[in-house]
Amino acid sequence: MSKGKVIAIANQKGGVGKTTSSVSLAAALARRHKRVLLVDSDPQGNATSGVGVHQGDWKYQLYHCYTQEKPLIDALVVPDKKKKLAIVPSGIDLAAAEMELFPVERREYVLKKMLSPVRDEFDYIIIDCPPSLGLLTVNSLTAADSVLIPMQCEYFAMEGLSQLITTIRSVKKSLNKSLFIEGLLLTMFDKRNRLTFQVEKEIKKHFGDQVFKTVIPRNVRLSECPSHGQSVIDYDVKSTGAQAYIKLANEFLRRQK
Ligand SMILES: Nc1ncnc2c1ncn2[C@@H]1O[C@H](COP(=O)(O)OP(=O)(O)O)[C@@H](O)[C@H]1O
Ligand SMILES: [Mg+2]
Repeated sequence: MSKGKVIAIANQKGGVGKTTSSVSLAAALARRHKRVLLVDSDPQGNATSGVGVHQGDWKYQLYHCYTQEKPLIDALVVPDKKKKLAIVPSGIDLAAAEMELFPVERREYVLKKMLSPVRDEFDYIIIDCPPSLGLLTVNSLTAADSVLIPMQCEYFAMEGLSQLITTIRSVKKSLNKSLFIEGLLLTMFDKRNRLTFQVEKEIKKHFGDQVFKTVIPRNVRLSECPSHGQSVIDYDVKSTGAQAYIKLANEFLRRQK
């Protein structure tokens, strides 16, 4: 049995669809009977609450694994045993981890080390990164095989991107030689807005085949489902949002060798 593939979902911009994509892709892969672990690496804990996991459901969260050497397996929560989806939850405590990690030796490798004993248990491990390029994101990129970059089709989308690409290159150079870009994912696509198509064209010009063919439309079900503690796949599988993420999962699986 080969080790699970680790995918970091990253973009230092907030509100571009990282968490929505992490939760929805994880759920869509689980629907295809893949064993999936979602790691919530954002102190906002949106992926955690987004799959219906709340304070009190866990004894340890990712913060304790980072700072108290708790094994990751002790922080795992399985919200729905039938669905082959597990999560390592996070909450606001995680915000302190960056500072606490600072004096730690090989502080960029902590998450990689943590994941190593559980990798055999899963087909895919998806890390939802925070909206920054700090130590939590660097740990995620160092632990990952690949990075998936969600982008909102808006005018300034490309600006932050060069900064992210620079970070990915520097992680690749010094911390994780085999890191590659899994793909760029266009999110919150609005067909009625001409600017959307211009931005899409621009991104495709720069990144060509690295852009997923599947585009995620703006869909109200995607914005509603977190407050129900459900992925869009569980909340309304027929919605255009759920169907788009199912299509993305299929495209993603086709691309795996
Ligand atoms: N395709 C979409 N259609 C409609 N709303 C979306 C879509 N993707 C994300 N959202 C909403 O936009 C907000 C930001 O998305 P989120 O995934 O939390 O971004 P990030 O994790 O990058 O900060 C959330 O309220 C989310 O529910
Ligand atoms: Mg988020």
